[in-house]
Amino acid sequence: MIINISQCEVAGEATGYSFEGTVSKSTRPAGCFVERSGGSYFNSDLTGSSTSSKYSALCSADAWVTTTTTTTTTTTTTTTPLYYTVSMSNCADGSMIIDVTQCEVAGEAIGYSYWETVSSTNRPAGCYVEKDGGSWFNSDLTGSWTTNAKYSALCSAHAWTTTTTTTTTTYWQSPYFWMRCEGKQALTTESMTFEDYDSIFNKVESLYQTLPDTCNATYCPQADWAGCVLRMAGHDFMDYADGEGGSDACIYMDDIDNLGLAECLHEGEFGISMADAFVDFCTTISLADFVVVAAEAVMNISRQHVLNEDPSRAGVDFRSSFKYGRTTALSCSWAHGRLPNPEDSCSAVNTTFVQRMGLSWGQSAALMGVHTLGRAKPENSGYDGWWSDVENSRKFNNDYYVSVLLKGWGPEASIGGNPGKNQWKRIDRGVNETHLGKEMMLNTDMCFVYTMDNEGLVELDAATAVENNCSCTWYMAVKVSGNVSGVNFTENKAAELYNNNEFCGSTYIPGPDAFGLQRAICCGDEFLPSEDGKVSDEFTAADCGLIVDLKGPAVSQMTTFANDEDAWLSVFSTAWRIATTNGYESLKRL
Ligand code: HEM
Repeated sequence: MIINISQCEVAGEATGYSFEGTVSKSTRPAGCFVERSGGSYFNSDLTGSSTSSKYSALCSADAWVTTTTTTTTTTTTTTTPLYYTVSMSNCADGSMIIDVTQCEVAGEAIGYSYWETVSSTNRPAGCYVEKDGGSWFNSDLTGSWTTNAKYSALCSAHAWTTTTTTTTTTYWQSPYFWMRCEGKQALTTESMTFEDYDSIFNKVESLYQTLPDTCNATYCPQADWAGCVLRMAGHDFMDYADGEGGSDACIYMDDIDNLGLAECLHEGEFGISMADAFVDFCTTISLADFVVVAAEAVMNISRQHVLNEDPSRAGVDFRSSFKYGRTTALSCSWAHGRLPNPEDSCSAVNTTFVQRMGLSWGQSAALMGVHTLGRAKPENSGYDGWWSDVENSRKFNNDYYVSVLLKGWGPEASIGGNPGKNQWKRIDRGVNETHLGKEMMLNTDMCFVYTMDNEGLVELDAATAVENNCSCTWYMAVKVSGNVSGVNFTENKAAELYNNNEFCGSTYIPGPDAFGLQRAICCGDEFLPSEDGKVSDEFTAADCGLIVDLKGPAVSQMTTFANDEDAWLSVFSTAWRIATTNGYESLKRL
């Protein structure tokens, strides 16, 4: 219940009822309320109760501003006494009291009650005491007192207490409160048609089209913006557990895991935000539905880049199976801490995707393919790099799987000196940060396939990989390339279909007879076999898992997705539907 008038004002405006003032009547609802005919009010009589249907109570969903006040007190103590008097001479440099309030304190502190202010050149300047009692302040700072022993100057030994008050205002607010809306924001979509879906799509697309299409190693706005919008939807539905949360547009904005989302949500990233599009639909479409449609739109638009290059690839269609009716939550403080921590590897995937969201391991692997878009930034998550090479990071394709399986990766511990942030970086022959950008993966991406030991008992973990003899993740080429020297495999063609015939950055793929050389291509020249072609046990031990028999929980599905994009898109669409409808019983088709 809103029992504070200024909160009431904000709440009224936020829900589209302009604030009309305070009343004090037990015949109206207590606290904050709205009148059906328009306007919001605050009833300061908190015993108020009215059952008239003319009024509705306006409630806060804990989504208010929390103010934390930190008071830092710095006391500078010098020699005692803190105050001292000097007769017939001046205060030490800098210790003369020239402020009436300081003088009052100083007088009392040394037992001379403060008397009053004078303004006389015949008295000591500033603060002084009279021998027969009382302290005074002479505002005529040119005052001179050397000739009269009746007075002593009262000096400060810089013993003042400095108090610094820092006020930190934490805005913990549901994204609902960040949206602009002329009118009352719909909390649940009552009706929605294909035309409505298309209008949202077109609006998001028109915003996307304003982005520069430059895409180089460090700057690719289309990847960043699309990534951010999609991540918003993901962070929204990943807080689902036991019927609570899911796609309700509510995320805990102050959560460190959500850093960077405010930009594309409402602040503007490259000058545009989801709020710019939502404003056109806010009175009929709930933000909860809008976030899902916007994410579907950016996946679709990013897919266009793929189709423009290769029209034979399949399009994506989320529209035909979209269902509406999600309710925007105004509060979700329980979401705090629910997002999976990448450091926790497949245990985190298991808790969030499998146990809470009800996805199978294959569907979890399919859903994680969203990471083909966008990147991680040190200033947001502390991780650093694009999931694929930069150009692929603005394309909605299966490059994520191609990257996990057709590239060699090594642990990169303590990113930016932070031991809590550890990731995988590309280490094979194809590394080219200048042109491709920095390529990285998280534990939670790689663990679907790789483990640290041969038995599959120790989860992949970049922080402890080296001490566990896991310095390089790579896979046997025959599983992803039909064209391995000396042998022709027909089924697995990820390298040919999606990776310019490259495996570990090289079109020369030595094949099963020369694992040692292949390891060096994937993991670095320090793994080159000795002149006699023999590979030392040490090198073999450095692999994360047995490369011919990897034990991650979704090796086969990830391999299928790398080799067959259509297979991925099909499982992805099921996983997406589950993720975005969790917690809803009665969503409706367009
Ligand atoms: C175990 C699950 C997941 C983990 C641990 C995870 C972790 C992360 C991290 C650390 C980032 C970097 C953020 C930054 O620095 O800006 C990120 C970015 C991203 N995440 Fe996830 N994520 C997970 C699941 C998802 C899901 C389910 C989605 C969406 C449906 C998603 C979509 C994205 C996208 C598109 C980006 C790129 C953002 C951008 O470019 O701004 N993620 N994720």
